[in-house]
Amino acid sequence: MAKGSEVFFPFKDNYFPLYLAPMARFTDFGFRALCKEQGADILITEFVMADAIIHGNETAWSRFEFDQKQRPIGVQIFGSSPDLMGEAAAIIEDRIQPDFIDINFGCPADKVTCKDAGSSLLRNLKKLGAVAAAVVKAVPNTAVTAKIRIGWDAQSIIASEAGKILQDVGIRCLTIHGRTKDQGYSGSADWSIISAVHDQLEIPVVGNGDIQTAEDVIRIQSQGHCDGVMIGRAALGYPWLFKEIRHYLNTKEVLEAPKLSERWRVILNYCRESFPSGVKEEQRQCIRGYRPKIASLTKEMIGCKRLRPEIMKLNFFGELIELADIHLAKHEQELEEVCQ
Ligand SMILES: Cc1cc2nc3c(=O)[nH]c(=O)nc-3n(C[C@H](O)[C@H](O)[C@H](O)COP(=O)(O)O)c2cc1C
Repeated sequence: MAKGSEVFFPFKDNYFPLYLAPMARFTDFGFRALCKEQGADILITEFVMADAIIHGNETAWSRFEFDQKQRPIGVQIFGSSPDLMGEAAAIIEDRIQPDFIDINFGCPADKVTCKDAGSSLLRNLKKLGAVAAAVVKAVPNTAVTAKIRIGWDAQSIIASEAGKILQDVGIRCLTIHGRTKDQGYSGSADWSIISAVHDQLEIPVVGNGDIQTAEDVIRIQSQGHCDGVMIGRAALGYPWLFKEIRHYLNTKEVLEAPKLSERWRVILNYCRESFPSGVKEEQRQCIRGYRPKIASLTKEMIGCKRLRPEIMKLNFFGELIELADIHLAKHEQELEEVCQ
C-alpha cells in the first residue's frame, strides 16, 4: 500500500469521517491532540508557505509537528509557484512523512492573496491546476488533497470546475468550504454547492462550513451529499463536539454534555502538556499566546463572560489552576442544583 493511502480508510464501508479544520494560531500540536482524544478522525496542521519550508524556517516546521497518535494527519501548504510548491512537498515527504499533503486554495487573507496564493488561485484555474499537478508529481508516495472555497465571489462560483481540474491532476480528496472568498467568515456556507460537486466527482468530497451541532450533520446528510465533514470554529469552543456527533451518528441519541469539572480537566491537561515547565519567563511568554485559546475553550461555560478578563491576565500555569478551582467551586454546585 502506498504511504498515505491508509488515510482514506475511513471512507470505506460508509464510515463518515470527522475532520478537525486547519486553523492558524489555534490548531497547534496540543489542540490537535485534544481533538483527537475527543473523537476527531482526521487532523490537518495549519498552513505554511512553501518558501518557508524550502528555506528551512524552523518556526514553520514546528507547525507541522505531530506524533504517531495524531495519524492520520495531513500538513497544509500554500504558495503560487508550481515549482516551489512541488519542491516544498518533496522536502516534507522526505523529512516527516505525513499521511497526506493538503494544498490551501481557500485562504482569503490579503497577505496571502496578494502573493497570488490561497483563494487567489480560484480566479486562475489554470494556475491552480498547475500548482496541484506539480505537488502530486513531486510526492509519488504521499496522497495529495486540496481545500477550496466555492469561488472568489457570488458572480464566480467555480467549485465544480475547480474540483474537476483537481481530480484530473491526481488530487485524492477535496474539501470544500461552502463560502466565497468575498464572504470571508460571514454569511452562511452553501451546502447545495458542496453536494452538487460531490455528485460530479469520483474522489471523496469533505464538506466544511458552519457545523456547530450533531443535528447540523444529520441535516446536511439529509439534504445533500458529502463523504465527511470538517469542523472549524465550533471545535475551538467545544472540542467535545466530535464525540457528540459520532455518538449521534451511531445511535441517533444525544450524548450528555461533559460536566464542568471534565471540561476543566481537558483544558488543564491541554495547557499542562503545552506549557514549558520550570523557567518562569518562558512560561509567561508561552501563556500569552495561549490566552485566546483558553478563552475560546471556556466560551461555552457558565459564567464565561466574567472568566474571560481573568484569562486574558494569566501569566503562569499555577494561576490557571487557581482560576479553574474558583470557577468550579462557584458554579459546579449551582449546575448540580439546576439539574436536580
Ligand atoms: C482562526 C482561523 C484560522 C484558519 N486557518 C486556516 C488555515 O490555516 N488553513 C485553512 O485551510 N483554513 C483555515 N481556516 C478556515 C477553516 O479551516 C474553515 O474552513 C472555516 O473556519 C470554516 O469552517 P467553520 O464554519 O466550521 O469554522 C481558518 C479559520 C479560522 C477561524
